[in-house]
Amino acid sequence: MDSNDDLSISRRNLLLASAATAAVGVPAGSAAQGVPQLQEPPLSTARVTLDVNGTARTLELDTRTTLLDALREHMHLTGTKKGCDQGQCGACTVLVDGRRVVSCLTLAVMNEGAKVTTIEGLGTPARPHALQAAFVKHDGFQCGYCTPGQICSAVGMLDEVKRGVPSHAAEDIVAKPLLSAAELRERMSGNLCRCGAYSNIAEAIGEVAGAKA
Ligand code: FES
Ligand code: FES
Repeated sequence: MDSNDDLSISRRNLLLASAATAAVGVPAGSAAQGVPQLQEPPLSTARVTLDVNGTARTLELDTRTTLLDALREHMHLTGTKKGCDQGQCGACTVLVDGRRVVSCLTLAVMNEGAKVTTIEGLGTPARPHALQAAFVKHDGFQCGYCTPGQICSAVGMLDEVKRGVPSHAAEDIVAKPLLSAAELRERMSGNLCRCGAYSNIAEAIGEVAGAKA
């Protein structure tokens, strides 16, 4: 080891020692003099039961666990994707009691007793959901990362149209919505696709909706 390495290590050790002292906020050795040390707050956990894809799942979770992390990290349902983790990309969209939700913005404990449907619960390779089949038929994906969120979102969106929920693109918010191309794009605008497969995604959804996208 040359003298430069010695120098860099001793500088690093010095910085680490300084940081540790600053974080604790007291000089070294003060613990022995009765000064209280900072302690980790106790972990707050809760028992949460969710109906996930038709199966009751009970977990003991840190109350700060998002629904997304509960699905991916605790239930190993990795079909639901984490993109931005802050509600902006739609990759983590699942259905909660039939409505589309970005699962990174809701805590698991807030959904106690809810019926959660993920991409794994919509269909199987042998018996795909109509939207899953349409995405394959219309080449509605490239890397596929956004696809589970796009499909779950489309399922929820088509149900919103059926229930007469207006969108920002609606010209008459009390009229029964018609799924025009503009409406479809507006209603799906919360789901981003970095591969830019939008036109094929719109065609796939449009076919299932019975509308020309
Ligand atoms: S990961 Fe949830 S919206 Fe992007
Ligand atoms: S298919 Fe790659 S991000 Fe949409």
